[in-house]
Amino acid sequence: MSLEKPPAILQPLISAEDLALRVSELGKEISEYYQDKDLILMGVLKGSFIFMADLSRSIRVNHACEFIRVSSYHKKQSSGTVTLDFEMTQSIEGKHVLLVEDIVDTGQTLLFLKKHLMGKNPASLRICTLLYKQEMNPHIQRELHWVGFEIPKLFVVGYGMDYEGLYRHLPFIGTL
Ligand code: IMP
Ligand code: MG
Repeated sequence: MSLEKPPAILQPLISAEDLALRVSELGKEISEYYQDKDLILMGVLKGSFIFMADLSRSIRVNHACEFIRVSSYHKKQSSGTVTLDFEMTQSIEGKHVLLVEDIVDTGQTLLFLKKHLMGKNPASLRICTLLYKQEMNPHIQRELHWVGFEIPKLFVVGYGMDYEGLYRHLPFIGTL
């Protein structure tokens, strides 16, 4: 991977402070909802790894952390086909699963994962996404139980999200 062609300019969109604040609010709501339930957070790699780490630490009920990996993006475009790259390592049967996503754009990934996870008979499946892009299909929007921020239809990076593998480490979210 090379840094020789950095994309234009990075415009900040959501600051590290605003991210921290919102993640702790989400953690509080999620903790209330899952009191006394057997909870598994299911992070979608790679994009959700930083959000997942912060969200997990803001949740005040016991929970396990699992990861699954899918891919669909090539550069800034969804390829339309979602592929399962690697699978979770524990059974979710009878458990309450909270899917943790970085961003929902077309909703393809979400629909794929929902079908995949429901096939494993969890007690429940809910979805938490840090970001969702406006003007999204209303049918997809109804699938989301917790949303961090609504953003314009722009390509964003940082706080786990990448462009061609780069910029995941940025503590804030910006647009290219
Ligand atoms: P969808 O299937 O179109 O909803 O795309 C979902 C996945 O594509 C997300 O989980 C991200 O990993 C990636 N993605 C979508 N939009 C962006 C973006 O603006 N920046 C970085 N990754 C994105
Ligand atoms: Mg993702």
